[in-house]
Amino acid sequence: MSENNSESYGNQELYLKYEGLLLPTIVHTPETLRYAQEFKVRDDDIFISTYPKSGTTWMQEIIPLILNEGDKTPVLTVPNWDRAPWLEENRAHLFLDERPSPRAIVTHLPYRLMPPAFFKSKAKVINVARNPRDVIVSSYHFHVMASFLEDPESFNEFFSKWLCGEVFFGSWFEHVKGWLNAKEKDRIIYITYEEMLMDLKGAIKKLSNFVGKELSEDIIADIAEHCTFKNMKTNKMSNYSLVPEDIMAHNKSEFLRKGVAGDWKNYFTVAQSEHFDSFYQEQMKDVMHHFIWDHS
Ligand code: A3P
Repeated sequence: MSENNSESYGNQELYLKYEGLLLPTIVHTPETLRYAQEFKVRDDDIFISTYPKSGTTWMQEIIPLILNEGDKTPVLTVPNWDRAPWLEENRAHLFLDERPSPRAIVTHLPYRLMPPAFFKSKAKVINVARNPRDVIVSSYHFHVMASFLEDPESFNEFFSKWLCGEVFFGSWFEHVKGWLNAKEKDRIIYITYEEMLMDLKGAIKKLSNFVGKELSEDIIADIAEHCTFKNMKTNKMSNYSLVPEDIMAHNKSEFLRKGVAGDWKNYFTVAQSEHFDSFYQEQMKDVMHHFIWDHS
């Protein structure tokens, strides 16, 4: 483990443990987690629920554009983390309490840790999932560049830790299964990163219907064009270039890194791939839902 970022961030521990989850202390504290638990959910809130590295930043671009009917002012003037803040992070209270409805709110929380008020509300949820193999690769690179996360050491080390859920926000399998089993199916839309890559306009249309916005074909096409990987990469309000180098080392890996499906094939050995497949099958054996990556 490297000396300066594996065990502490500045003078503090890298992670705190919350209900079995490791959370980076740079933005999570007992107070922020209490805020999330006591959050006053409004019926017209829109939660963007993701396991890390599954398309969160992409949704933080798409949903504000949909809600603003294609007006780009928010995505060109407000950083993604304030535009659609993380419920469980330290900046949430600054932006969410006074924000007019409908609020776009991001969360990496598993279903079981959603605020009690969520379950009694009519708030909608956009749940984004991504091929876990690509999540591992993306997350590995994120750990390389982010000084507030544990040094991943080798890809192989990281791969094993990730499978065991010994990474921030815990196990992908628990996260995905928890949300798939949610009771509130009538107010959750399930979408995948891969679906968005294949047909971004179609995804935007589906999402705008879900949040109750009737947008013209022209506006949908314009939003899709703005939200391509290439275009988002140059938006400094979305590409994390505003974050100082000592927190995110952009020279080690860019945040908007490759933006593709299937990059795992460049990283997994044959043995890792076989191990992953049997682990995945075991973990997902009771899941009826078929993901697009289950067939590839
Ligand atoms: P890669 O590291 O594979 O490139 P999150 O926002 O949940 O942390 O996810 C980050 C991943 O989403 C990164 O994946 C990033 O490049 C990708 N991403 C962000 N915006 C994208 C876009 N417009 N098109 C495709 N991928 C995008």
